[in-house]
Amino acid sequence: MAPPKIHIKTISAETTHIVRHPVLRSGLPKESCVLPGDELPTTIHLGAYSQNVLIGVCTVINNPEGGPFTVPNGQIRGMAVLPPNQNSGVGSLLVEEAERLGKTLNFEVMWMNARKGVFVFYSSMGYKIDGALFDVPIFGPHYRMKKSIL
Ligand SMILES: CC(C)(COP(=O)(O)OP(=O)(O)OC[C@H]1O[C@@H](n2cnc3c(N)ncnc32)[C@H](O)[C@@H]1OP(=O)(O)O)[C@@H](O)C(=O)NCCC(=O)NCCS
Repeated sequence: MAPPKIHIKTISAETTHIVRHPVLRSGLPKESCVLPGDELPTTIHLGAYSQNVLIGVCTVINNPEGGPFTVPNGQIRGMAVLPPNQNSGVGSLLVEEAERLGKTLNFEVMWMNARKGVFVFYSSMGYKIDGALFDVPIFGPHYRMKKSIL
């Protein structure tokens, strides 16, 4: 049987918590799911649905304040897929949709702070490490990764 089709659509910031909490903030209070910039009107939250069930999320922050790039850019944050649905292409679909939207917004660069263990995932999508490994308290070592989408 063919795998169920995945639909990606925009969702509210709060809806992302359904996936962010178990995947990215397990054991932490629900409030820890709120990320800086979530509430901005220019921020886009994406949800991946399989048979009307939310299984993956990611957020694109439009030109984040204090970000490292001076050209128009989008930061991907809160990238998460529920464990039973990981490694079946859902994360890649979310990044592809984030890039497609980024192009419509004339972003030149997409980037993220990637957990060290996940840099292979973003590398497989054309992202390059940009700078030295750095530590994020509680969550451990991260690389900034970037990709030109011009
Ligand atoms: C990282 C994550 C979002 C990727 O989503 P996914 O749907 O599992 O990824 P995909 O199935 O689209 O994988 C695409 C490629 O990346 C690889 N990949 C996925 N997750 C990986 C990981 N954690 N480490 C290394 N490679 C990984 C896959 O093997 C696949 O490679 P292939 O095309 O050669 O087979 C998802 O696994 C997840 O939610 N992980 C836990 C939360 C997390 O770490 N989020 C990122 C924070 S920066």
